Amino acid sequence: MDKKEWFIDWFNSYYYHLLYKNRNDKEAKDFILNLVNYLNLNFESSALDLGCGKGRHSFELRKYFKSVTGLDLSKNSIKEAKKHNLEGLFFTQQDMRIFNFDYKFNVIFNLFTSFGYFEETNDNLKILLNCHRHLNKKGILLIDFFNAQKVIQNLVKQEVKKIDGIEFNIKRKINHNKIIKTIAFKDKNKNYYFQEKVQLLTQENFKSLLNKANFKLIKSFGSYHLTDFNINQSDRLILLAEKK
Ligand SMILES: C[S@@+](CC[C@H](N)C(=O)[O-])C[C@H]1O[C@@H](n2cnc3c(N)ncnc32)[C@H](O)[C@@H]1O
Repeated sequence: MDKKEWFIDWFNSYYYHLLYKNRNDKEAKDFILNLVNYLNLNFESSALDLGCGKGRHSFELRKYFKSVTGLDLSKNSIKEAKKHNLEGLFFTQQDMRIFNFDYKFNVIFNLFTSFGYFEETNDNLKILLNCHRHLNKKGILLIDFFNAQKVIQNLVKQEVKKIDGIEFNIKRKINHNKIIKTIAFKDKNKNYYFQEKVQLLTQENFKSLLNKANFKLIKSFGSYHLTDFNINQSDRLILLAEKK
């Protein structure tokens, strides 16, 4: 049996970026603008984009931070991200479970559901503790996750998405407190099959994890417009925490 973790090949593939192409630079630009306005930071600050993908948020963040580092496990995404080639913008291929820098940040962002992937139950806490270690005094951690309650209540069990001539057959189910999305399609006469498995972490789960990692939860937003989090209505669960 192939024991390779699901997120390694899927996020590194061309097809992941095709399927999620609506999660684009415009969405990143608007969200980052809303966040920096809210956070009201000084331009001398530094930021880490943890799970940066091709760097769509890192690129935007660089407009408001003197130095921005994007980190991702996907070799192909980091290669793409590096094409931004801006002074003060750096990209590195590392695993967020064990990342290491010899400098600290003012803010760490973890955006668009880049959390809750790992089989080891302790890994979530490990990541948060590592974030804590990499933040300056009173540093900020911002996690943008989905609203698990809404996902469960509105589960679309099956759908077909046709994008650029490819029919993605998508199935979703809930198993062992994870949302499991299977994505099957055919391209150039070859069949493909991928799975996403993400823990259904609630606001309470995050509160407890943040507390254990010595963060104080300051605010929970429910959308990229930074509306208040509402467990029944919000699509996102965006947690703003400060290092204690
Ligand atoms: C849903 S994508 C979001 C990417 C990016 N934040 C965006 O909004 O475009 C999740 C990202 O987390 C990355 N990732 C998954 N596991 C990782 C790990 N162990 N360490 C670092 N990055 C990881 C994936 O490669 C992928 O780019």
